[in-house]
Amino acid sequence: MHEESKGRRREANVRGSARRELVQAVAAAPPRPFAAQVASLVGDRLAFLRGFLAHPEQVGSVVPSSAFLERRLVRTAEVERAHAVVELGPGTGGTTRALLAAMRPDARLLAIELSPEFYARLRAGIDDPRLIVQLGSAEQLPELLARWRLPAPEAVLSGIPFSTMPTETAERIAAAIAACLAPGGRFVAYQVRARVADYMRPRLGAPQIAWEWINVPPLRVYRWVKPATQ
Ligand SMILES: C[S@@+](CC[C@H](N)C(=O)[O-])C[C@H]1O[C@@H](n2cnc3c(N)ncnc32)[C@H](O)[C@@H]1O
Repeated sequence: MHEESKGRRREANVRGSARRELVQAVAAAPPRPFAAQVASLVGDRLAFLRGFLAHPEQVGSVVPSSAFLERRLVRTAEVERAHAVVELGPGTGGTTRALLAAMRPDARLLAIELSPEFYARLRAGIDDPRLIVQLGSAEQLPELLARWRLPAPEAVLSGIPFSTMPTETAERIAAAIAACLAPGGRFVAYQVRARVADYMRPRLGAPQIAWEWINVPPLRVYRWVKPATQ
């Protein structure tokens, strides 16, 4: 057998056993006690409010997303079909937990958060071998996917406020999302204002839009699908 094909087979074996270990670790994780869940929910809300008061334009909302919005995001992005998922702006982690609950046992989630306080809380509060929490900006998406050796994501979800950030930053983030998304991949953004569509339309075309009313505040959920041939 050629050295090259032996090498390829070795690499496939290593990838296969890493995936098996990941699936076993996810299956073995014990459920969190109810009291711990309530304490973490209350703590998350307080931390979120503190984050909003410190940086309102960056956090964009006073409370985390509702369970109704979380479920709509999971559905809209078809998270259960994805092998690699990216979350931009996980905040205190409610949406992150909803994504993990819906994801395949061998999928990976890269969560990129700008706030050091939220980042520390996510690192301490969610113990799941499929999750990579990264402190940084959504602008760094291409280099972070490469750093963590992740394939092109089939689902990217974003709650970052496109309407309050500088235009150049928003343009760079929109370009990075459109470039990194796998062909056929979904980009789902949940926003109060429509600005995100101005940035994405030239890159991914017209979005599908649905309202989620049971959330504070009610907001729009946008969905783009990257053409399979792009
Ligand atoms: C509306 S909150 C959404 C939080 C959470 N996903 C939820 O739905 O409850 C927006 C989050 O995006 C983060 N954020 C803002 N700009 C960002 C950027 N450029 N890169 C990464 N995260 C960002 C904020 O710190 C905040 O955690």
